[in-house]
Amino acid sequence: MNPALNTKLCELLGCKYPVIQTAMGWVADPTLVAGTCNAGGFGFLAGAVMTPAEVEAGIIEIKSKTDKPFGVNFHMYTEGAEEIVDICVKHGVRAVSYSRSPSKAFVQKLKDANIVCIPTVGALKHAVKAVEMGADAIVVQGGEGGGHTGGVASSILLPQVVDALPDVPVVAAGGFKDGRGLVAALSFGAVGIAMGTRFLMSQESPVPEQTKAEYVKAPTEKIIVSKKLDGMPQRMINNSYLQKLQNTSGLGMLVMALINGLAFTKLTGSSLFGMLKSAWQMKKANGSTLGQTMMAANAPMMIQEAMVQGHPEKGILPSGQVAGAIDSLPTCEEIVGGIAQQAEETLARFAGAE
Ligand SMILES: Cc1cc2nc3c(=O)[nH]c(=O)nc-3n(C[C@H](O)[C@H](O)[C@H](O)COP(=O)(O)O)c2cc1C
Repeated sequence: MNPALNTKLCELLGCKYPVIQTAMGWVADPTLVAGTCNAGGFGFLAGAVMTPAEVEAGIIEIKSKTDKPFGVNFHMYTEGAEEIVDICVKHGVRAVSYSRSPSKAFVQKLKDANIVCIPTVGALKHAVKAVEMGADAIVVQGGEGGGHTGGVASSILLPQVVDALPDVPVVAAGGFKDGRGLVAALSFGAVGIAMGTRFLMSQESPVPEQTKAEYVKAPTEKIIVSKKLDGMPQRMINNSYLQKLQNTSGLGMLVMALINGLAFTKLTGSSLFGMLKSAWQMKKANGSTLGQTMMAANAPMMIQEAMVQGHPEKGILPSGQVAGAIDSLPTCEEIVGGIAQQAEETLARFAGAE
């Protein structure tokens, strides 16, 4: 292997290639995580949308499918976040990812347990803050990326963060799918790439086939950013359902939020109080209005409709723009192995041109 591919990230996470499969709600399940890790990458379980019991069962299942290290994603403001962290410590997971930083004491507790803290951020100031709070490494997601996303493209944001934090390993996310992208990220000063959409569009991904087909079909220009779902900019496929939502009034969205929020508490067994508490904490952190915060209750049901129930026309499809440049559903082995091979070839081409 070209030594340029054996980066600090490989050492930090214990993986062969500097390629991360990021957490994606209802998508990054034990099979996808184990598939990524067995292929030489590093996968994160989507713990932010799971109960602590589901996270623990997920960890046990991953361990039954791989002996490689892996990580867990959690959301600081969801009910059970502290319990999830205790479970990660108990089972010795290698790393955790998060978007809203926990307190310094909380991060320290993870570090004391030798767990690598690697949050995802979408803006330079958030990267600096995350490091102040104790992060060991940072995933920087450019605006091309899927799900909640910032407004600055990877090609601009990544070198900005690398320059601002010269001593911190920085991983590039948002818009990556192949070995050329990995080499580009390394040349910007990153220690690897992290991908969501590319792994969503894989054989191991649990997303139903009819929903995956919508990702394969989606042209780049149809993958847009909207605040309609939960008040925060989120990148998704502009399907007929999203178009209908765009035309729904604020009042209509609040009524939907109430119905969807109650359905979600029923489905997950979470308490209405817990849900309102985490919504309030998120409101404080994001500076969003109460109306926007309440709309966040819509997201889980609408996303699950497409990603779990397999009704893409009745739900939301979070996606990176890169889906428009992907037309296949390979295995994790083909994805990670293909990236490594193309990166090697690209590096060899550069060496030959010297
Ligand atoms: C379907 C989907 C669900 C996601 N869910 C989460 C999540 O639960 N937690 C999180 O931190 N990021 C989430 N993200 C963001 C990804 O982890 C990742 O940062 C992003 O997909 C990277 O950009 P890319 O799609 O261009 O590879 C999600 C993205 C997608 C496409």
